[in-house]
Amino acid sequence: MKTYDNVLQLIGHTPLVRLNHITEGIQAQVFVKLESLNPGGSVKDRIGVAMLEAAERDGLITPGALIIEPTSGNTGIGLALAARLKGYNCLFIMTDKASQERVRYLKALGADVLIVSSAAKMNSPEYYWNTAKRLSEELPNAIMLNQYDNPANPATHELTTGPEIWSDTDGTITHFIASIGTGGTISGTARFLKNKNPSITVIAADPVGSSIKTFKETGRLVEALPYLIEGVGQERIPGNLDLNVIDEIINITDKEAFMTARAMARQEGIFCGGSSGMNVAAALRVARLLPKEAVVVAIVCDTGERYLSKHHSDEWLTEKDLLEKDRLMLRDVVSAKRTRGVLPALISLPSDATVQEALSLMSSYEVSDLPVIDGDQLVGTIRENKLMSAVIEDRLVLERPVSRYMESPAPVVDAHQDVQTGINMLRNTPMIVVSEFGRLSGVVTRHDVLEYL
Ligand SMILES: Cc1ncc(COP(=O)(O)O)c(C=O)c1O
Repeated sequence: MKTYDNVLQLIGHTPLVRLNHITEGIQAQVFVKLESLNPGGSVKDRIGVAMLEAAERDGLITPGALIIEPTSGNTGIGLALAARLKGYNCLFIMTDKASQERVRYLKALGADVLIVSSAAKMNSPEYYWNTAKRLSEELPNAIMLNQYDNPANPATHELTTGPEIWSDTDGTITHFIASIGTGGTISGTARFLKNKNPSITVIAADPVGSSIKTFKETGRLVEALPYLIEGVGQERIPGNLDLNVIDEIINITDKEAFMTARAMARQEGIFCGGSSGMNVAAALRVARLLPKEAVVVAIVCDTGERYLSKHHSDEWLTEKDLLEKDRLMLRDVVSAKRTRGVLPALISLPSDATVQEALSLMSSYEVSDLPVIDGDQLVGTIRENKLMSAVIEDRLVLERPVSRYMESPAPVVDAHQDVQTGINMLRNTPMIVVSEFGRLSGVVTRHDVLEYL
């Protein structure tokens, strides 16, 4: 039988997958190591079990112990998986920056979670790390495994991640790229790889705003600035980070990391988190300058499912002003109009509505042209100045149906046409009506396009 005794046996031996599309114009071979395929969905499964087993070996942990850890989520999941199977309880201290999905995930695995403010400074007792430390000292039978300084963290990467990459590339790897949270992945893996071949280049991808690049290059520890990529970058230097095995640090913006993560899903079918997007963005920058013999390996740290309400959500990206579309479509103009809420996307009248009703609708929404729609059929356009002129001539017009005064209908355009097509049409007509999947969904005027752009 080909079976496993428990899920912990599924940790590691993750595949290296070639990137084929996002690498357009690049000669070097670029691979990603899918740590997202670990049973807990991240690279941190490796250290969860490794740190627990090291504590057991060193006699630091007793049955029924409470594991307390400050974690941005993934380590918690890795630890919770292993702890439950080994009979320990978990309490995780997380900041309010961690996604809801992660918090719920941890609770589902039977862990307790305490959320503290991400605004707390490093020297404040409320800082998430300090809170975890204090609780691990105060609560009975509690232990903090401390992924930032625990040598079992880089050791497991030296023992597993590094050898897997070496063996899966038949020793041909030339460049290794990973991010820095605790520094465990990059330091342990790089140590193994550089031992095998000292000419392998190790590059850390780090968020713009993190203090690590400046520290490596100048020895000065500057205050970190805020960024949105989760789980990586630091304002202190973790004990597990070995800067000696890192050749270069590349800073990547939130936007580039998130856009690359989204492109990975669309172009490569690889659904990943923001730190993975950051690693791939750095890998592409490096690979662009390399010859075809180069073999570049970047870490995909975790699955994108953890960020469905973050960078994989258009709404969230729009809120953070980070959304970049390959192509602006008319549906975007209609949906922006709907979101702004100043005007409904589609205001219309049936052909038997009276001129009086039409004028009052126009004046309440301050619009001068309206489509006339019967059922789902666009039958005409009414214009305020034409109706007004008729009313001035004869007040009885107010009671007559708009059908007597309407002009030919505005052009109907599919919502998936780009905005430029709409702009071209609006040169000859004051408005166009947008239809989506056969249903009239909105009106777009010159004013709407200007407002949107
Ligand atoms: C999402 C994510 N990516 C990457 C990392 C970096 O891994 P490491 O701690 O091994 O440096 C972390 C670490 O916390 C993480 O949570």
